[in-house]
Amino acid sequence: MIPFTIAEIARVTGAVMDGVRDPAAVVTGPAVIDSRQVVPGALFAALPGERADGHDFAAAAAAAGAVAVLAARPVGAPALIVPDVPAALGRLARSVVDRLPRLTVAGITGSAGKTTTKDLAAALIGTLGPTVAPHNSFNNEIGHPLTVLRADAATRYLVAELSARGSGHIAALCEIAPPRLGVVLCVGNAHAGVFGGMAEIAAAKSELPRALPEDGVAVLNADDPLVASMAGSTAARVVSFGRGAGADVRATDVSLDRLSRPRFMLRMPGGSAEVALRLHGEHNVMNALAAATLAGELGMEAGAIAAVLSAATPQSKWRMEVTERSDGVIIVNDAYNASPEAVVAALAAIGVMANGGRAYAVLGRMAELGERSPAFHEQAGVAAARTGLAGIIAVGAEAAPILTGARSMPGYAGELVAAQDGDDAVVALADRLRPGDVVLVKASRAAGLQTVALALAAQPPGDDPPEPPAVQSDGYPPAAPQEATR
Ligand SMILES: Nc1ncnc2c1ncn2[C@@H]1O[C@H](COP(=O)(O)OP(=O)(O)O)[C@@H](O)[C@H]1O
Ligand SMILES: [Mg+2]
Repeated sequence: MIPFTIAEIARVTGAVMDGVRDPAAVVTGPAVIDSRQVVPGALFAALPGERADGHDFAAAAAAAGAVAVLAARPVGAPALIVPDVPAALGRLARSVVDRLPRLTVAGITGSAGKTTTKDLAAALIGTLGPTVAPHNSFNNEIGHPLTVLRADAATRYLVAELSARGSGHIAALCEIAPPRLGVVLCVGNAHAGVFGGMAEIAAAKSELPRALPEDGVAVLNADDPLVASMAGSTAARVVSFGRGAGADVRATDVSLDRLSRPRFMLRMPGGSAEVALRLHGEHNVMNALAAATLAGELGMEAGAIAAVLSAATPQSKWRMEVTERSDGVIIVNDAYNASPEAVVAALAAIGVMANGGRAYAVLGRMAELGERSPAFHEQAGVAAARTGLAGIIAVGAEAAPILTGARSMPGYAGELVAAQDGDDAVVALADRLRPGDVVLVKASRAAGLQTVALALAAQPPGDDPPEPPAVQSDGYPPAAPQEATR
């Protein structure tokens, strides 16, 4: 963070100072929303959460060295009082961007693949100069400004993940840090329930290309018609990526290794180079192409891009995390997120890994699909049955239509198991798994199925299933909603 006095923050955010003895005291950052992360010089932003209210931790934050607390009400510590703390964080973040004229901002949005692409783009762009990118999926009205606030005078690039759960959200995030480059990955059914239909989802994503300036670059998926058509709604130059012949940046000769890791020829206007990804699943070809296109626009050559992409390991957990057990069972933990398209992509990946052998899918609910949720789950079941799985274990009532869908597939001979919860699923699999089997665990994060994947991955062959381990903490309070949105 660049240093601000308390008085400057008050001016920028429109805050009223309360209990501030020295308005000239300097906040050197970081800006944090978890009092446990406060270090001397920090700005602590108090947010109300589901389980805890940040305002209750203001005194602890001050004791740990927070210079000021951004809060909605007096907190008994030096505070900047604003009606809307996230909005104030956004205004402060914008003033950071305005003070850093050499900063180039690249935004990434889309229904699936944002975090993966962000991680790849940050790895690439980080070779060009000091780069700030979000932790995890810090991609909403709280996580985005917190990310932007990490930039300082040394920062040359900001790679931002931009999520939308409604109209106007991405436009607002673009106001906080106006991007010069913007990637739209795909338009899919993630969170269809909060949007309405595909047209609304596409309109929300198009707010990124719309926000780009004339000298900017819109990086668009040529293979997704709803994204490609956004070329008509941007003032920026358009550079496309895709598998098809028409794209500016392409992947050809795509093949998958036995763990479904893609290898392909990266073809860019200036040259070509072979990429061997360490990420699992063919869908990551598009994510890699999007990141490569961004890096290419910032001056990287195909060879250097291919080298970085080929070295990049998964940075964000529970996305196609593959564990090979000593008995040869392969566990794929993709429990971070699920949407109809992501389930299909993950099923394709385990189909490859099974290599004619047995594969199981433990599928939990896909969240926020609205009234069409049962239909989406049924379709997922059809897709799962088409993959020819040895068994489908649907966890929880909301996921039960998956079994209905699978049952409707004529000729599907795999087992269908209704599990009440994760423990139930672990027990069901313990009896069934044999050396060489592949297990996919996938659901929206709210379903908590990472415990199933972690338990299975740790399970020594022949032993009773252990208690699922507790969910690891991100170090961020459960209150922070920046993880759950897109
Ligand atoms: N291009 C894609 N198409 C379909 N599914 C994808 C794609 N990219 C990623 N996924 C799946 O979507 C889930 C979320 O990936 P992630 O990179 O975290 O995206 P986001 O940040 O947009 O939620 C993962 O389970 C992954 O397997
Ligand atoms: Mg994300």
